[in-house]
Amino acid sequence: MQEFQEGDYVEVKTKKGVFRGVLLPKPKFSDDDIIVIKMDNGYNVGVVPEEIRLLRRAEKREARREIKVKFREGLPTVSIIGTGGTIASYVDYRTGAVHPALSAEDFLFTVPEIVEEANIRASVVFNILSEDMKPEHWITIARKIKDEAEKSDGIVVPHGTDTMSYTAAALSFMFEKLPLPVVLVGSQRSSDRPSSDAYLNLISAVKVAKTDLGEVVVVMHASSSDDRCAIHRGTRVRKMHTSRRDAFESVNSMPIGEVSDKVRFFREYRRRDDDLVLRDRLDEKVSLIYYYPGMPLEVMERMLEGMHGAVIMGTGLGHVASEFVPLLREKIRDGMVIGMTTQCIYGRVNLNVYSTGRELKHAGVIPLEDMLPEVAYVKLMWLLANYEPEDVTHLMRENLRGEIEKRRFLK
Ligand code: DGL
Repeated sequence: MQEFQEGDYVEVKTKKGVFRGVLLPKPKFSDDDIIVIKMDNGYNVGVVPEEIRLLRRAEKREARREIKVKFREGLPTVSIIGTGGTIASYVDYRTGAVHPALSAEDFLFTVPEIVEEANIRASVVFNILSEDMKPEHWITIARKIKDEAEKSDGIVVPHGTDTMSYTAAALSFMFEKLPLPVVLVGSQRSSDRPSSDAYLNLISAVKVAKTDLGEVVVVMHASSSDDRCAIHRGTRVRKMHTSRRDAFESVNSMPIGEVSDKVRFFREYRRRDDDLVLRDRLDEKVSLIYYYPGMPLEVMERMLEGMHGAVIMGTGLGHVASEFVPLLREKIRDGMVIGMTTQCIYGRVNLNVYSTGRELKHAGVIPLEDMLPEVAYVKLMWLLANYEPEDVTHLMRENLRGEIEKRRFLK
């Protein structure tokens, strides 16, 4: 083994057959001398030394194919704005290493077919895991979209999946008018894995970016098979599973469309506006509070300290222990905006059914209908930064970007 190095292109003969591919680093958690090679079809195979009949160096492949992106007359232009996460990476099949995708060529390396769909402008605003994102990152992305909108017909934003729905909601509110689609896309499994969803998600996102949509949407796998993607409205979408490829769902709602070969819309959607209006200020003095049985009053007090607003994820129809009501009443009297959502996720808040709910409503807590807690949190940050305090309370209850559904959806 010593004469071989990680990244060498090798041929291994075993009883089970001959495998050719790139020698990968030894798996971290294995004490065995197992060797792992990445085959040309993308699958990794592990071979124990006893099974090896012959191991030799084979003809090396290029580190990566050189792809030159040419401008093609008659095709729309789509801007890809990389922000990080698994999707924004490509695999170097020589070393098996995963690299950030930084240029149009890097994205084409993962999905060469996108040149058939559009002329691609690619840029990277940052390359971070989405759990590290902060509101300032949402603002950076929004400003970059505004710049790119002058030069392209649609925007695709590759993004880590963990907090993609927060960014989608933030962009949905920040853009009051959009002359082009803004499509967020991620992948649950990196493109070095045979089961990766990166390919279908990215090509589907580019297709959606060419439509007449004038909204912020998230495009991700619609099912666990690799055949179609769903188009979710940016204010209704949630990551509902840690690892499934179809982890994203439109909650209390339905996707607005689907992409297989073609894009198909099956719900009402906003069409491209003539111009772009961006209000990119956010008030970060907002808390998102998950109430739990036994939560000490001081914990709630501390989470509200110095804040201009708060969104509570209450129990059931929208409750917290009744001993919290005087504290909330006092904060609201002092000018804080407090909204109630539910940790049930599915269904609608109703503060008229139980006495605690009625007391909360009487204290001035705003029932936020079927709005998702994360969306309500982002909406409140945006309203507090852009509107007069007296307007914020009633705007929280108004449907601005599809964040409140009047229709009921059965689950
Ligand atoms: N922690 C993840 C993120 O949201 C990385 C994996 C992914 O892209 O989903 O950035």
